[in-house]
Amino acid sequence: MDLLLYNAGEIATLSHGEVSKPLSGIEMVDREKLVLDSGNAILISKGIIRKISSQEELIQEFAPDFSDGKSNLVDIIDAHGNAIIPGLVDCHTHLLWTGDRSNEMNMRQNGLSYQEISIRGGGISRTVESTRSATKKYLVNLGKHRISQASMNGTTTLEAKSGYGLSVESEIKLLEASSEIPQDKCNLLPTWLGAHDFPKGKSKDEYVEELISEQLPLVAENKLANWVDVFCEPGWYDLEQTELIVKASKELGLKSRLHVDEFVDSNGLALAAELGSSSADHVGFSNTESRAKAHESNTMQVFLPGTPYVLGKNLGDGINECIENNWNFSLATDFNPNCQTLSLPFVASLATHRLGIDPLAALVACTRNPASTLNSELKLNVGSIYEGGPADINILKSEYLDYWCQTPGLSPIEKTLFSGSLV
Ligand code: NIG
Ligand code: FE
Repeated sequence: MDLLLYNAGEIATLSHGEVSKPLSGIEMVDREKLVLDSGNAILISKGIIRKISSQEELIQEFAPDFSDGKSNLVDIIDAHGNAIIPGLVDCHTHLLWTGDRSNEMNMRQNGLSYQEISIRGGGISRTVESTRSATKKYLVNLGKHRISQASMNGTTTLEAKSGYGLSVESEIKLLEASSEIPQDKCNLLPTWLGAHDFPKGKSKDEYVEELISEQLPLVAENKLANWVDVFCEPGWYDLEQTELIVKASKELGLKSRLHVDEFVDSNGLALAAELGSSSADHVGFSNTESRAKAHESNTMQVFLPGTPYVLGKNLGDGINECIENNWNFSLATDFNPNCQTLSLPFVASLATHRLGIDPLAALVACTRNPASTLNSELKLNVGSIYEGGPADINILKSEYLDYWCQTPGLSPIEKTLFSGSLV
């Protein structure tokens, strides 16, 4: 049976213009173009949005018998006057890993940097040890649980990186586990991050060779990932190694999304733009010239404010710089052992409460914009609400759309529809 979502407050459709493309600058806060007033409803058929129109018109056309909130002709969802936003899109997560690194906070508070903690055996390599010993079945269950957490916070599309295996066997195990997580609440798109760190017992050159001649061919042949990622940062992968890995991956059909300029500006963003990466993430320290270059090359700058937040660092000026210059940007959670949030509303709260970003701009940065980096791997464009689009929709607990990022620590979501079904 078709589904009528009625009694809606504001609907943030975000679907003005070409929905597969990102928005920037003042386009991101254009309420007239991006938000419908209350009084509209959405008719959903077989998981697809069939019609968005005035409530009266939709009732007349599809539920002429409608009375007392009921109809025998369509299923009804009453939004109780609450605002509606698209399903959220998290384009950067390290979904699968096991272990506990909460002891690192004390080290940080005693003045050790991320790099120093890593040199002392903490950081990524600590998580690699625990993740290598986990079975695939355990990882799949963990993934299911984590997807539920993301879903409770309104996420309906999520990118998931490997990267805590750092060996042929363990990286493949992580990617296979991702592919076995049921996609009944959320689309899940895998990225291969074998180049997250260097494993013990191998030289850097030996491992880069393993990445290119052993891991990559298996990932590509078995279609285990759509993208390659590299942690391009002094102390980890340098520009040359990053370029080598990305170019080899490109030849085998993988696009790239890269970790760059997280702690210092090493021209990582400029390299991502030159390589035509789908996205460049962190970008906290990237220079202005690189940002302009990224925009021109359609490389999305993805800010991860949860990470500087948990590392006790400044959230930076990059997001505001992008808004002022009409450069595309997105926000994502960067869920990882240090930054354990799968809540985009929380991340957007950092951007709005701490950096003065408009809640509507933050919403575009958590939906349509990140979707533009993932849509190529999905049947339909996600991240906005439009006729013919997937019925991935969140009903908020408030009549105001701005509520979506104003409940840090609690979910602002009343109900979520994924592909037209209630989650
Ligand atoms: O994006 N910086 C590289 N990777 C992750 C963190 C990895 C970790 O500390 O386990 C990130 O923040
Ligand atoms: Fe990350």
